[in-house]
Amino acid sequence: MKKTRSKNVNLTNLKLLFYELTKQNSLDYFTSMMNVIHISAECYPIAKVGGLADVVGALPKYQENSGVKAMVVMPFYDNAFTRKHQFKKIAEAEISLGEKTYAYQILRLKKNTLSIEVTFINVPELLFKDYVYSDDDTERFMAFQIAALDWILSLKQKPSIIHCHDHHTGLIPFMLQECYRYKELNQIPTILSIHNAQYQGWFPHDLMHYLPAFDISHNGLLDWDGVINPLAAGIKCAWRVTTVSESYMEELQQDANGLESLLSHERDKCVGILNGIDTSVWNPETDDMLTKNYSINNIQTGKTANKKWLCKEFGFSLSKPLFAFIGRLVYEKSADLLPEVIDKALSEKNCNILILGSGDKAIEQQLEELKLKHPTNYNKCIGYDEQLSHRIYAGSDFLLMPSRVEPCGLNQLYAMQYGTIPIVHSTGGLKDTVTDVKDDGFGFRFDHVSVQDCLDTIQRAVTYYEETPNLKNIRKTMMKVDHSWDASAKKYNDLYKSIKTS
Ligand code: ADP
Ligand code: GLC
Repeated sequence: MKKTRSKNVNLTNLKLLFYELTKQNSLDYFTSMMNVIHISAECYPIAKVGGLADVVGALPKYQENSGVKAMVVMPFYDNAFTRKHQFKKIAEAEISLGEKTYAYQILRLKKNTLSIEVTFINVPELLFKDYVYSDDDTERFMAFQIAALDWILSLKQKPSIIHCHDHHTGLIPFMLQECYRYKELNQIPTILSIHNAQYQGWFPHDLMHYLPAFDISHNGLLDWDGVINPLAAGIKCAWRVTTVSESYMEELQQDANGLESLLSHERDKCVGILNGIDTSVWNPETDDMLTKNYSINNIQTGKTANKKWLCKEFGFSLSKPLFAFIGRLVYEKSADLLPEVIDKALSEKNCNILILGSGDKAIEQQLEELKLKHPTNYNKCIGYDEQLSHRIYAGSDFLLMPSRVEPCGLNQLYAMQYGTIPIVHSTGGLKDTVTDVKDDGFGFRFDHVSVQDCLDTIQRAVTYYEETPNLKNIRKTMMKVDHSWDASAKKYNDLYKSIKTS
């Protein structure tokens, strides 16, 4: 039989050296109140690929406001943020993945200018890369998870909750429950938040020996359909499982990329909690990325100024309604339909369309080529641009989100916060946050994902734009809705407390 255990590293041999454990930089952080450690691959503004970063960068702030201490543990990447800031070393040690040993350091910002506390895990050989995700994720995130737990094991005051996000941290609940090395931590409740069940982190059983030693007869906890499935292992072993909207929780029972029966089986420990938005970042009144700030009191002039900038930048006429799409160009977001939708919409309807996104190379190519056919009423920015995204939320009239799958979706929340009308497929979090204008709401919804349904809904929106004398009223109404994290952060805190008291 294959060797399934890593070298049994004795923690006392780990050379876990603590540097300058001053009050400020470390353990006084953990007070007697409930303290949670979020473990995540992304966190805004440090490293962002999508909405996971926004959530992990915001939720801890709001949890602190409602009385739960929260910090984030994440990988140390080679990116603009880490190049721009200075870090101090808190500890260093080694971990083993199978036969290989890797040195790692625990880092903190020398001067914390963020409004959250972040601890970085630097495994130079594996994590310090200029990307977050790639083909080598199995080794990278395995090392990250083991180093994170070793560090937590070394803390004098342990966290009261360990909150994991997505499959990159899905092995943590298993390791805490099963690995001999973490026995001392196995009473700490674990939460797994599923931001997207499409991605599960699968890897073959012959890499099981990367994990610290555990009772091999329990290896079924790692398995789903014959491979190791970190998301499935997380669902099985976490004390509670959350998803990022109630509707998505329901939908996962029918469509979870193969995990339907598991989620159905574990239903009692699962709950949907809707994401919020960080109003210290996403507020048109204070957002310094905009060309002009505005509020509900000067919405008309504010939005027009931002639209003017977009129209000038992308060569559009100001008079037509501007539809925008921002996002990853992937199947889940229905990005494959965009080229045909754009082509037909611009041939038939009186509007302009702007795309900001990157992803599937074939879709990128098609979106590039469309510019030749529609030079005056279509434009695109293929790539990732945080500042431009803010300007598009502010300056567009409508935001398109035809997603096939949308666990929560933050774009529609940002759009509404900036007075931009969302056009969404009725799924997941989109269904939970956008009400159609025909039901006295402030958006447009459609029930089936198809080119025709998108086109029909765009037509409905164009007509609405042309026939509604006072569009600013609907914009005002949607801007008044509170999408901040306050209510949802409280729900997470209540969930933690319910575990501690049950
Ligand atoms: P997902 O996480 O599935 O990509 P979300 O709606 O939760 O979708 O969050 C997407 C986040 O990423 C938003 O903050 C959105 O503004 C941002 N985003 C997506 N694509 C881009 C891009 N090309 N440039 C700038 N921001 C982007
Ligand atoms: C995922 C989902 C998205 C959600 C985000 C943050 O990336 O695709 O719908 O908003 O996570 O939870």
